[in-house]
Amino acid sequence: MGCHMKKSLWQQILKGTEKVAQKVPAVQRKLEAEYAQVEETVRAKMRPPLPDLPEFNEIPEQGVSQEQILNWLRELRQREQPPWQSGHVSGTVYHGGEEHSEFLSEVYRLHSQSNPLHADLFPTTIKCEAEIVKMNARLLGADPNVEREQQVVGTVTSGGTESILMAMKTYRDWARAEKGITEPEVVAPSTAHPAFDKAAHLFGIELIRVPVRDDFKADVEAMHKAVNRRTIALVGSAPGYPHGVIDPIPQIAQIAQEYGLGMHVDACLGGFLLPWIEQLGYPIPPFDFRVPGVTSMSVDPHKYGYTPKGLSVVLYRGRNLRRYQYFTVTDWQGGLYASPTLPGSRPGALSVGGWSAIVSIGKQGYLEIARQIMETALAIRKGVEAMPDLYLMGEPTFIIAFGSHRFNIYLVMDQMALRGWRLVALQKPPGLHFAVTVRHTQPGVAEQFLNDLNESVEYVKAHPEEKGEMAPIYGMANSLPFRGVIDEVLKRYLDALYD
Ligand SMILES: Cc1ncc(COP(=O)(O)O)c(C=O)c1O
Repeated sequence: MGCHMKKSLWQQILKGTEKVAQKVPAVQRKLEAEYAQVEETVRAKMRPPLPDLPEFNEIPEQGVSQEQILNWLRELRQREQPPWQSGHVSGTVYHGGEEHSEFLSEVYRLHSQSNPLHADLFPTTIKCEAEIVKMNARLLGADPNVEREQQVVGTVTSGGTESILMAMKTYRDWARAEKGITEPEVVAPSTAHPAFDKAAHLFGIELIRVPVRDDFKADVEAMHKAVNRRTIALVGSAPGYPHGVIDPIPQIAQIAQEYGLGMHVDACLGGFLLPWIEQLGYPIPPFDFRVPGVTSMSVDPHKYGYTPKGLSVVLYRGRNLRRYQYFTVTDWQGGLYASPTLPGSRPGALSVGGWSAIVSIGKQGYLEIARQIMETALAIRKGVEAMPDLYLMGEPTFIIAFGSHRFNIYLVMDQMALRGWRLVALQKPPGLHFAVTVRHTQPGVAEQFLNDLNESVEYVKAHPEEKGEMAPIYGMANSLPFRGVIDEVLKRYLDALYD
């Protein structure tokens, strides 16, 4: 509580200083010049001209033939596919194999009109969703033999963000109804996904971010100290997106149990991979419903479950908790209304596609893929560890995060980009990460990655005067204490995408 007060006061002072500074004309001019440069870079990178796809800023008078549209899209796909298809992109496309993708497209074709909102018309989608939830619960340590009320249950959502939103809304409504808490707070490590900030913003929750330790794991003691009578839930990640590090879930869950709080494990990224890695014999600390005190989890089949994009699952220990997620309207003139998650209508094809992906791959398929991913990740990890100018961040599993004490690591990212690679830029401290997927298990990809990384490092060392392309933007984001400026940069980035 004290820590949180201090932080917000400090932020207010900074914000006040920033507002005053931005009114000085010279500062204004300098900022506008910086913004313009960012906008130009963003536009060039994210909105390149696509001359083969005509522009429609209003609906064409006469419809374009389906054949023509398919030709345009096929042509562009040929150009957009190679970077991720060849395994040059961190995360993003988790399977992407030709046969698997064709199978999912065929399932989509069969169900493109299905909508689980109308359960009576589309019972196949409803069955698939219920089974996706059950299969995920079992995968994440749910005990099927507990009494009905205590079973792990859940719902399907559109993605990790929605699963986290739903869990946070659930805890808010649960704590209000059962504990009378009207100014709820959630305590999360600084590495937890921004979806928790979004949930806090949307649902009137105060998110207390607690800095992680030097090994990038949640600081359990500091989280304990942040708990007060308004706290409704604690958060841990398995693993966290930035460094791929698994938080000490049992210790956080113990605090949650001690105070009767909710405990959410964000396993969006790892929930569909860590169980197989564990079965393969790698040392994975306990992170799922086998841990007493874990009351909810988010897991994304659309990542390492290799389902179509737009499918996640939120799980709760106990039916009572899930009730707080639901939304019902009883007196609308349009009839009775009940929906389990944020949207109304939903794409049933994604649920049927998700079910089909999971059932077609099966346990043995997932195990085999996990084995290949871990072998690739270990090879990359070993290669990075052998580079004296780089250091590994934390204890990686399938995400390799690294930084440098010797030079600006973002320049390495720019050099890697010139060699066709897309890495993720981390901040506080500056670093890069590469999330290993099926794409990278192709022969030669890890070796090529390490060769290019070595070359990039050598180039940066030999050209200390070069500024790079994205490096100045990330450098600015890391060094500026005035976060309002960065906020404006991000909003202009979003503007540029829709211009
Ligand atoms: C740990 C973690 N949580 C949540 C999310 C959010 O998932 P989505 O992008 O599907 O909303 C991600 C996405 O990468 C993630 O890595």
